[in-house]
Amino acid sequence: MTQAHAPGKVILFGEHAVVYGRPAIAVPVAQALATATVEGAPPGGGVTILAHDLGEQLVLGQPASERLRGLELVTRRALERLGAATLPDLTIAIRSDIPVASGMGSGAAVSAALVRALAAHLGASLADAEVSALVYEAEVLYHGTPSGIDNTVVSYARPVYFVRGQPIETFAVERPFRLAIAGTGIASPTRMAVGAVRGRWEADRPRYEALFDAIGEVARRGRRAIEGGETAALGPLMDENQALLREIGVSSPELERLIGAAKGAGSPGAKLVGAGMGGNMIALLPAEFEPVLEALRAAGAASLLVSEVR
Ligand code: MEV
Repeated sequence: MTQAHAPGKVILFGEHAVVYGRPAIAVPVAQALATATVEGAPPGGGVTILAHDLGEQLVLGQPASERLRGLELVTRRALERLGAATLPDLTIAIRSDIPVASGMGSGAAVSAALVRALAAHLGASLADAEVSALVYEAEVLYHGTPSGIDNTVVSYARPVYFVRGQPIETFAVERPFRLAIAGTGIASPTRMAVGAVRGRWEADRPRYEALFDAIGEVARRGRRAIEGGETAALGPLMDENQALLREIGVSSPELERLIGAAKGAGSPGAKLVGAGMGGNMIALLPAEFEPVLEALRAAGAASLLVSEVR
């Protein structure tokens, strides 16, 4: 039996604008993990994938449900890449405690865990870049035009500064800081949110290009602040990023309620994460952070965790 994990992620700065070539920063969230377990199966059975959280299963070569098509694709591609000439007999079990459709990269993390477990089971090891490229194929299937940031951060499992089409840059966090990650309980439909932004961009390119430029600039400043240990600069940058995300139309009343509650209780900055329109928000935490968590709970957070960025 072989097991592998991949973390969830949050985008600290730059979502949506990253689809249009601007930089973004994302960090792994080790408290939310996807796990894949691979075991040998009786001869002739082929590959079975058990997606426990979805209550679904799939046998490679038989019709798959919409939700499992990405896993089917990633499994096939990984087996090709690993040189498996004939279909092995395996059972792959997937579990994840990363909330689905929450802006935390659950789909990408599940795919990354699967690829890594499969490689380990077949006695191979794949570089982070290879895992990321395989996971990207499933992301395309699910999300249409992904920037590639989600598969990158969950595959490298390190803070990344990401610019579409450019070599990956990882970077150091000079002074660790804490985030609260709170869920609205409402699904964040990446494909729909990205498509809605594209429609608005097509209708008014100059305005949206300027908004994306401003978001990209926030991401650059965010990286400098993190690398320089200037944690005090991060809160205002998160607020600035959120104001721009609001402008491009991907916030929601539920996200705003959680953001307002966190700020009102002493968080120096807060923003939505991922595609928005639901999903999760993050709030930078002060040293005494219990009041912020209390405020988020009181404002109806459907999930809440604290993550240290280091
Ligand atoms: C989704 O986690 C982040 C978006 O920027 C989409 C993408 O980068 O593919 C909204």
